[in-house]
Amino acid sequence: VDDDDMQFIKMHEHVSDLFHHILMHTNEGSEALNYLIERGFSSELLKKEKIGLAPKMSSFTKNAILEKGFTEEAAYSAGLLSRNETNFSYYDRFVNRIMIPIKNHQNYIVGFTARSLDGSEPKYLNTPETKVFQKRHLMFNLSDARKSIRTQDEIILMEGHLDVLKVKSLNIENIVGLMGTALSEENISLLNRLASNVTLMFDGDGAGQRATVDIGETLLKHGLNTFVIQLPGGMDPDEYIESSGEESFRYLVKNEKRHYIHFLAEKLLNESMHNDLAFSQNINTLTDLLTYVNDDAIRTRLILHISERYGMEKSQIESKLPVRTSQKR
Ligand code: GTP
Ligand code: MN
Ligand code: MN
Ligand code: MN
Ligand code: MN
Repeated sequence: VDDDDMQFIKMHEHVSDLFHHILMHTNEGSEALNYLIERGFSSELLKKEKIGLAPKMSSFTKNAILEKGFTEEAAYSAGLLSRNETNFSYYDRFVNRIMIPIKNHQNYIVGFTARSLDGSEPKYLNTPETKVFQKRHLMFNLSDARKSIRTQDEIILMEGHLDVLKVKSLNIENIVGLMGTALSEENISLLNRLASNVTLMFDGDGAGQRATVDIGETLLKHGLNTFVIQLPGGMDPDEYIESSGEESFRYLVKNEKRHYIHFLAEKLLNESMHNDLAFSQNINTLTDLLTYVNDDAIRTRLILHISERYGMEKSQIESKLPVRTSQKR
């Protein structure tokens, strides 16, 4: 963290405080506050996470930054202001949005993800890439989750920032959020250093399922024990908690944790009910993946499961397994 970095961080800490004050204590914030409370986010959580509101004004952030003695150029470089490329005037990047601060590994606020309130697109607007906000290096809530991840040796990975915050309010702490839908090499090595087990809990919709298939394969191949919790009815964690309740959610987290290969075997089986060619390709896909399972007990269990579900002898599956190569762990 050099002087420039610290300046970016100070700007973010300052405007976060202002946004939070507007949300919690002003008339201007009351509609957004009601919206969040209605969605089941407690004022205690909003306070703890310093959630805020960027008001419906084009120069609120700009003025706050100037009053504090920073320049417009610096705020532009930090991603807080946008620039009109015709007359080079500066204006607020975030207008009429719920502001969710994003912290780096040292617990400093380095950016925002900002949800629109009036249906305007994009629904979520993020801080652009800056010197201190490089998405490939960041994961949402990591600085708070780190300790619990270490003690439990498990990371629960989610897509949505509000999903992470809702689950966090149930005192489940080992949750981190992706910054977007991609997982960077830096993210993977970071996860690998933090824990041996990763559980994916993405949205139950089509996009979430595709992300589960892709990211799960990547994590498994990088030596992590990878598990999946599938949410029913296309719901995301937040929607599930609101519709089915906290206890039901806790039950899922405790009892419905399938190995990634188990999840994939079920999915592929459903997809190849009437396709014998795909069936045989799928068996090969699954047996290839089994070589990445380092835990012998889990591997045996998966072979048993696949043989039962796919109507094959265990020995047929075992004979397809390539000779085990040495693994990372
Ligand atoms: P809520 O309605 O607030 O609950 O959001 P959602 O559940 O519809 O969010 P969704 O599942 O669509 O998105 C999950 C994550 O994807 C968000 O936390 C964002 O990180 C990202 N995302 C969603 N929409 C956008 C978008 O329009 N732009 C960008 N940059 N990211 C988005
Ligand atoms: Mn959506
Ligand atoms: Mn989604
Ligand atoms: Mn949602
Ligand atoms: Mn969602």
